[in-house]
Amino acid sequence: MNSFSPRVNTLLKEMTLNEKIGQTFQIVAGFYHEEGIKIEDLTGPITDETVAEDVLWNIGSIIDNASCDPERNRRVQETFLEHNRLGIPLLFMADIIHGYKTCFPIPLAMTCAFDPEPVLEYARTAAAEARAAGIHVTFSPMLDLSRDCRWGRVMEGPGEDPFLGEMAARAYVEGYQGANEDELKRQDRLAATLKHFAGYGFVMGGRDYDETDITEHTLREYVLRAFKAGVDAGAELVMSSFTTFEGVPANGNKKLMQDILRGELGFKGVLISDCGSINRIQGYHVAASGKEASRMAVDAGCDIDMMGFRYINDIKTLLAEKKMTMEQLDEMVGRILTLKEKLGLFEDPFKGISKERTDALYLCEDHRAKARRAAQKSMVLLQNNGLLPFSKDVKTVAVIGPNGGDININGNWSSHCDCKDSVKVYEGVQNAIPGANVLLERGCEFTARDEALLHRAVEAAKQADLVLLALGEKDCWSGEACSTTNIALTPCQMELARAVVKANPKTVALLINGRPMDLTELSGFAPAILECWFPGTEGGNAIADLVFGDVEPTGRLAMSFPYCVGQVPTYYNRSQVSHYNPSGSPNVWFQLRYSNCSIHPRFAFGHGLGYTKFSYKGLTVPAAMIRGGEITVSCTVANEGDRPGTETVQLYLRDEFAQVIRPLKELKGVQKVTLQPGEERLVSFTITEEMLKYHHRDFSFCADAGAFQVFIGHDSTVEEYKVFELKDEYPAAERQ
Ligand code: GLC
Repeated sequence: MNSFSPRVNTLLKEMTLNEKIGQTFQIVAGFYHEEGIKIEDLTGPITDETVAEDVLWNIGSIIDNASCDPERNRRVQETFLEHNRLGIPLLFMADIIHGYKTCFPIPLAMTCAFDPEPVLEYARTAAAEARAAGIHVTFSPMLDLSRDCRWGRVMEGPGEDPFLGEMAARAYVEGYQGANEDELKRQDRLAATLKHFAGYGFVMGGRDYDETDITEHTLREYVLRAFKAGVDAGAELVMSSFTTFEGVPANGNKKLMQDILRGELGFKGVLISDCGSINRIQGYHVAASGKEASRMAVDAGCDIDMMGFRYINDIKTLLAEKKMTMEQLDEMVGRILTLKEKLGLFEDPFKGISKERTDALYLCEDHRAKARRAAQKSMVLLQNNGLLPFSKDVKTVAVIGPNGGDININGNWSSHCDCKDSVKVYEGVQNAIPGANVLLERGCEFTARDEALLHRAVEAAKQADLVLLALGEKDCWSGEACSTTNIALTPCQMELARAVVKANPKTVALLINGRPMDLTELSGFAPAILECWFPGTEGGNAIADLVFGDVEPTGRLAMSFPYCVGQVPTYYNRSQVSHYNPSGSPNVWFQLRYSNCSIHPRFAFGHGLGYTKFSYKGLTVPAAMIRGGEITVSCTVANEGDRPGTETVQLYLRDEFAQVIRPLKELKGVQKVTLQPGEERLVSFTITEEMLKYHHRDFSFCADAGAFQVFIGHDSTVEEYKVFELKDEYPAAERQ
């Protein structure tokens, strides 16, 4: 007996084989549009451009990445239902990664808030806008933990830390889907897709699509944590990864998809392939035919073939050859129909879809305000010699650099958003100080110097009371298929930076980019550096808010910034190894080191400055914690500056001895504390046994009795700690 509803079981009985197979096939929306397939539709090469008429009206779902037109989506569904024998509605899916019409900062940026609120606000906003346009599912959140900023997709993910990954996963799923599955029927909810399962962030050499070679220990200890949080939060879909695990392509990997995802994590929803990734199993030379690739994917529990044209061509044969069963097909189709049922599509496939609603929702004031707030909280002040915050009492501000003008400030994976709706850097400055003279000079191209542009930029800098030097990446330099071996600012940008700072020391470097970059040289002379990421629709306004002090920077780095690409991968939660020398003293030859560079990053995980200074004192940690109990640890945080400020207090733990190597530090708690000048406050964290657990050699997940170090500080470089001991039970003497 399956777990499907009576309606789903009735449909399964009535459906023909072709109708069932059609549900497992996903194509781009362009196949239903008068103008056909548009390039924006495609996020991967398509293997076939024709879909037979009888198949077209039996399809289960489409991807619409090209537009936000509710009336067109309504027409597509209406036409489809006129042709579909049993009236089974189409599912509309899309890559809504950090904005539908109102664009929020890229996901890596929002993780830098060290606070779920920006993600929650984003997801709720995107769900309201997209569902009003007729979209039901988003291919988000991307939860791929990564330590390698050569990989362009770090911009889509939660950074290097599993605790922040879990925080993000919960916030995205709740923001998109609501607090429970009944809310999915609402006209402002989307079904969430956890992706990419699993280990994509560990591609060899940071090369997108390359193999991954991680151990099961790394998979369980780091990679799966965010996915488990997302499954526990009720995510309705999971998307497979392009990559491999233990040498087997994820999409055909039974251990990964059936045993771990569905078996251990208890995922019961729809498993969808990545774009053509079933077909791509052949490309690994692991399946000798498309049919074998389909068989592997079916056995791995994959329900939907996204644009791979495999299932539609192979399932009949696999059934005939008894290489799959009708029960397997019914399970796949049953899960897809159940998702449609949860979304309320059988009752009303047009619920809430209207131009009136999208006109009221798209880029509305409330959504813009939320996008602005998210951008403010995502930016990270990396260094500041006191230049910031700058007074608004200025006559001339020069915005200089290739990212200062009319760029796509939304960043990659923002195809539904129109960057003409977004506030650029210079516009944000104009909005903030309308009476001032704002000069705009490009200074150089992204990759090419220009003597005339450089000269004009230097002249503008000389005239200005303040210079905002907007550097970084093009929007298409980070994202999918955007791996690089060079994370430094381009030479022409560095030449511009040196010339401008020399011309006017009141220069703030603004980084607009999608990945951690090598800022070593820039940090050697820039008076201030503000990491803005790709900040979205309200980016220019948020930058001005921080520069002029209307809002204090509170962001913290969710991913380490290396000194240079040679250090990659570099990450804070590195393991204890026997040659590790905490002092790093050069007198020890045989130690963990580079001959020419620190092993530590230029800007550490958790780093970020505000406009005041905080101190930490009085770290208090009880001597013991009894298994099954909990303890409270605390520290007094004081605002030593002359401005109010919000500190992101971070709790790190270290397991001193274990069955396997363990990290030097693990983030286990975050608290935002706002203090007035001179104010101090006791900040407490509760430590539970759950926080001390790790995967043992046999992958059992539990905590060992023994010593644990407790750190409470400003970022992952905090050194002071105190130790408590986890005991199995009260010592006899203390037992009453
Ligand atoms: C892409 C991406 C995936 C995206 C999918 C659909 O190749 O890997 O993240 O959701 O195709 O566009």
